[in-house]
Amino acid sequence: MTILNNAEIGAQTNLDIPLFIRGKVREVYDLKDKLLIVASDRISAYDFVLPTLVPDKGKVLNQISAYWFGQTKGIVKNHCISTSVDDYPDKLKKYRKDLEGRSMLAQRTEKFPIECVVRGYLSGSGWKEYCGNSKVCGIPLPEGLKESQELPEPIFTPATKEEGGAHDRNISFEEMCQIVGETMALELKRVSIELYKFAAKAARSKGLILADTKFEFGTLTSPSGEKEIILIDEALTPDSSRFWEIRQYKIGSSPASFDKQFVRDYLDGIKWNHQPPVPSLPKDVVDKTREKYIEAFRRITGEKELA
Ligand SMILES: Nc1ncnc2c1ncn2[C@@H]1O[C@H](COP(=O)(O)OP(=O)(O)OP(=O)(O)O)[C@@H](O)[C@H]1O
Ligand SMILES: [Mg+2]
Repeated sequence: MTILNNAEIGAQTNLDIPLFIRGKVREVYDLKDKLLIVASDRISAYDFVLPTLVPDKGKVLNQISAYWFGQTKGIVKNHCISTSVDDYPDKLKKYRKDLEGRSMLAQRTEKFPIECVVRGYLSGSGWKEYCGNSKVCGIPLPEGLKESQELPEPIFTPATKEEGGAHDRNISFEEMCQIVGETMALELKRVSIELYKFAAKAARSKGLILADTKFEFGTLTSPSGEKEIILIDEALTPDSSRFWEIRQYKIGSSPASFDKQFVRDYLDGIKWNHQPPVPSLPKDVVDKTREKYIEAFRRITGEKELA
């Protein structure tokens, strides 16, 4: 069993640079007008970080994000400056071993306090709400849809990010307009849906369904005062999206999560009550999960090997 050990590569970085935020699975460092995002091999389930690492998971997530940033830059600009340590500020080069493959130098933006969620299929919290009132986040949908069914059109269901580990709160589009202004809300919705459609089509050609996904955006202000929308954070990774295997997809059931199913099956199997102490994972579950992440990387990017 791999126990989380801070000295281990991929566990957690502690660079001598001001920390912007330490999330469940990533460290983000503050480089004034830029950010350095480092993806660890930590894995979370049911909102808890497990004490076991999944080797290479951070590289997989970082490189999948980088891939999509490259693919989608014709739709919207994004924050990625480089994933190559050679391009990083000199003071970061001594951390090469901790950073290579699993980090991204990004443009710091003024971020919107909104998670831009797009759903193409009825699943998760969307399915739960639909069962009660035939709506998802206030959007009326046709009657009689089944779990995991494709929606007639992808829908935009924003959420606010709650502080202190609370679950994100779904909001209506009108509420989003009050937070970011109507013009901006309409533009973020348009861009989010376009990104989803683009990625869902690409994923399908690789045998994957992109059921739903979450984007974050910020703005950069030009010297003349104009605000430009920038796609930030991570994009279209298994951590921010629900990917399903087309071959296993069946309407009326809840498809296995592409990446975390072995973890969830194990935790459900030992009847963990989703309260601390958080159980560690046995080696075979780690190995199978790692394989899944690497498979996701290969299928999505078409690359054979992680950088
Ligand atoms: N280019 C950017 N400009 C400004 N903020 C950014 C940028 N890219 C990412 N961020 C912010 O950095 C933070 C990254 O945090 P991270 O996702 O690691 O942890 P978290 O969201 O607090 O928690 P969780 O682990 O549940 O995701 C997010 O708040 C995100 O909005
Ligand atoms: Mg986050």
